[in-house]
Amino acid sequence: MSEAHVPKGQSRRNFLMATVSTAAAPMVARAASAQSAPARAPAAAPGDPLNLSLKINGRNQRVALDVRTTLLDALREHLGLTGAKKGCDHGQCGACTVLVDGRRVLSCLTLAASVQGRAVTTIEGLAADGELHPMQKAFVEHDAFQCGYCTPGQIMSAVACVQEGHAGSDAAIRESMSGNLCRCGAYTNIVAAVNDAKTAMQGKG
Ligand code: FES
Ligand code: FES
Repeated sequence: MSEAHVPKGQSRRNFLMATVSTAAAPMVARAASAQSAPARAPAAAPGDPLNLSLKINGRNQRVALDVRTTLLDALREHLGLTGAKKGCDHGQCGACTVLVDGRRVLSCLTLAASVQGRAVTTIEGLAADGELHPMQKAFVEHDAFQCGYCTPGQIMSAVACVQEGHAGSDAAIRESMSGNLCRCGAYTNIVAAVNDAKTAMQGKG
């Protein structure tokens, strides 16, 4: 369900390190070219924070982060946006789901540095003009949660499920949202909420 996933047979640590290496490659190239231009300031030392400009919920935010920082940790620990939850931190539960350019991603498996210049939407950015998003309203109306821990991820995933056209039937909704686990077992009410919100969202055009 997400752009970010750990390939079979590869540990999360190896996956992240490989991703970090890929993300760092342009920086290494820039550092090499800086070496041949002595007038320039020296490249940042390994481990120095990276200055990032992130677009979160329509707002540009500057933050200095270790290049290995996940989007989930950037949101929760550095930007004070604690809506996305850290359930497993291994790409297995969906509690950390946010939208990047309207598509679902698991923020625990996404590097913050990789979403520069892209639109990140978290649960905090769904309501508009003091009004809950239709999906938020439907979750409340259908009692589609119990402890609520998985709920922000469920709602973000549900919004994308409708926008992607994967909410045509109960079975399609269940399939499209199968990466979002609910330990309280609120699945039946979640499907009812998605069906309800779908009508309201499609009505909005
Ligand atoms: S916290 Fe990201 S999938 Fe569980
Ligand atoms: S409502 Fe408790 S885990 Fe889903």
